[in-house]
Amino acid sequence: MRDARFLPLTADEITVAANIVRAAVPRPDSIRFAALYSHEPDKRALRDGIAPNREARALLVDRSDGTSWDMVVDLDTKSVVRSEKVLEGASPVLTEEFMTIGARIKEDPRYQAALAKRGITDLTLVQIDPWAISNVPEVDTSDGRLCSSVSYVRHFEDDNGYAHPIEGVVAIADLTTGEVVEVFDYGVTPMNESCANYLPEFNQPLRTDIAPLTITQPDGPGFTVNGHEITWQRWRMNAFLLPIEGLILQGVEFRDGEEWRSVMHRGGLSEMVVPYGEVAPNHLWRCAFDAGEFGVGKLANSLTLGCDCLGEIVYMDAVIASEIGEPHVIHNAICIHEEDDGILWKHTDWVTDKVEVRRSRRLVVSSISTIGNYEYGFFWYFYLDGTIQFEAKLTGIMQTKSIGADALDEPGTRIGPNLVATIHQHHFSFRLDMEVDGWRNRVYENDVYAPPVGPGNEHGNAIRVRKTLAETENTIDGMVNPQAARNWTVVSSERTNEWGTPTGYKLLPGWANSVLFAQSPSHVAARAGFAKQNVWVTPYDPSQMRAAGDFPNQNRNQLGLPVWVREDRAVADTDLVLWYNLGVTHIPRAEDWPVMPVERAGFMLVPVNFFDRNPTMDVPPSEPVGCHAPGETSCH
Ligand code: NI
Repeated sequence: MRDARFLPLTADEITVAANIVRAAVPRPDSIRFAALYSHEPDKRALRDGIAPNREARALLVDRSDGTSWDMVVDLDTKSVVRSEKVLEGASPVLTEEFMTIGARIKEDPRYQAALAKRGITDLTLVQIDPWAISNVPEVDTSDGRLCSSVSYVRHFEDDNGYAHPIEGVVAIADLTTGEVVEVFDYGVTPMNESCANYLPEFNQPLRTDIAPLTITQPDGPGFTVNGHEITWQRWRMNAFLLPIEGLILQGVEFRDGEEWRSVMHRGGLSEMVVPYGEVAPNHLWRCAFDAGEFGVGKLANSLTLGCDCLGEIVYMDAVIASEIGEPHVIHNAICIHEEDDGILWKHTDWVTDKVEVRRSRRLVVSSISTIGNYEYGFFWYFYLDGTIQFEAKLTGIMQTKSIGADALDEPGTRIGPNLVATIHQHHFSFRLDMEVDGWRNRVYENDVYAPPVGPGNEHGNAIRVRKTLAETENTIDGMVNPQAARNWTVVSSERTNEWGTPTGYKLLPGWANSVLFAQSPSHVAARAGFAKQNVWVTPYDPSQMRAAGDFPNQNRNQLGLPVWVREDRAVADTDLVLWYNLGVTHIPRAEDWPVMPVERAGFMLVPVNFFDRNPTMDVPPSEPVGCHAPGETSCH
C-alpha cells in the first residue's frame, strides 16, 4: 500500500511532535527522546476508507528519575493520544548516557583500585564501553536505568583499545544518577600489550599494484529519486531510515506492462541480537539488542563518495530526532546506485552457433551503522528480473579477551600473543510485510521429497514438492532444511498467472541460518526467543512491529514473536507478515583481526510464477562498449 502516512516524520513534524510531548510532561527540561518516529496508521483502516490523523510515537526517558514513557501524539489535533509509563522494560540507551557514563566510572575509587591492581594508574586513555544491563545475572534490572561496562587500554589516542582488554573488571553504573553501583573484580589476567591497528600508518608498506577502476555512467544513473521515492527500471519503492530499525523499504512495486503490481508493503530489520558464547564472568552477559537497546538508525553513518559506494551515486539524507527533540539531519545516510551484475541470461544455439547474451544489473539501496565495536551494512538489491535480495555486511572489530599465556584451551580463537576473539552470533530479524498482488496472501512451506517406490513411482526417479499451507501461526515448521531444498512462498489468494498458477514470491534463505544457541537459564534465551526459529508467519497487527517487543532494554521476560504466536491466529488468505531470522554464527578467524573483512549474509525474495515467462525478454543486447581485453577496443 502506498500512502504518504507510511513515510517518516519530516523535520517540521519532529518539532511539532516534540512540542506536544514537552507540553504534556511534568518535567519538560529533563525529557529525552530515545526515539521519535512516525506512528504508522493501521492499514486496515486505510483499506476501509478511513483517513487516520498523522501520529508520532516517542520513546522517552525522564533524566530526572530514569523512568521510561511511551507516548503517541496526534500531529493534526496537537494532542496526546496515549501516554504510558513503560513497565516491562525501558526506552533504549541514550547516546547522552552512553557518552558520559565512562567519565563517572573513572572517578570511582573501587574502579581505580581494580585498575591499579593491574598496573594501570593513568586512566586518561582507558576506554570504557558501556553495555546494556539485561543479561548480567548478579544485577536486578527491574528498577532504574543501569548499564554494565568493560574497559580497554589505549596506549595512545588512535590505538585500537580492543587489542588491550582489561580482564575481570566490570563496573555497573546508574545511568540517571551517574553513580557507580558496583565494581566486580573477578581476578587479574595479564593484558595483551602488543598493538594491532588498522590505520594505514601501522600497515606499511601499502600495496602499489592496485589498478584504477572507474565506474562511469556518461548519461547519469538510470534511476530517479523524488523525496523518499526511488524509481528504477520496472521498480518503485520508498526508502527511509527510522531511529530503531534503520533502513526501511515501503510500497515496493513492480511495473508489469502498464500495471504497478504490489510485492511488499514494508520490509526491514525489526530487531538484532548479538549474544556472546564466552563463559568467564566478565563475558557471559555480553549481548546486544542493537535495534531495541541502542537504535540502528540513530547510529547510521554519513556515507561518502568513492569510499562507501562507487559509481554514479545519489544520496538520501535522513532526518532523525535528536535526543532533545530537534530534527537532526544525517547527511548521505542512504546510498543509491546501480551495479553491473554479470550475465542475466545467455544461450548459444549449437546448431547455428548464434549467441544471445544479456547483462544483468541491480539497483543498490544501502546504509551502514556503527554500533560500538561493530559495523553493519544493510544492502537491498533490486534486479531486472523481479528478484529482491538483502545482504548484511558485517565488519568492524571483534570482542576480545586477554588470556594467560599458558591458557591454550581457550574456546575463542587466538589472534595475538595473549589474546583471543570470542565466539558469538549475529541474529537479524527481518519483518517482511508482503503484499503479493494485493494484501490477501498465503504462505506455503515447500519441501522437495522422493515419493516411495511403488505405484506411481515404479522406477524410483520421481521428485515431488510437498506444500504445507500455513493455516495458522503454528502450522509450519519454520526451520531451514537444505536437504529438502526447503523454501517458503508467499502467494496471492486472488490472482493467478496466465497458466493458472497463483502469483507468488519465494523466500530463499542464504547460507547463514543458525538459530540461537543460548539456552535457559540465560536471560538472552528468553529475551531473544524470535531467534530460535528461522521463519515465522503472523497476521498483520500494527502493534507487532519488533520481534523482541518494543522495549527489550532492561527486560528479562519473553516478548515478541514467541508470545504473539501462542494465540495461533489464522494467517491463510489474510494480510500476513513474514519474519525471517538471519543467524550468522561467528567463529572468529585470525584473518578477522585487527578489523574484519566484510562478511556477507542474506536472503532473497524471488518471483515464482509471478510472471507468465522470463520478464527480461525485453532487455536489449548490450552495446559492446566497456567490455574488452587489454589492447582491444571491443569484445568482438
Ligand atoms: Ni561477528
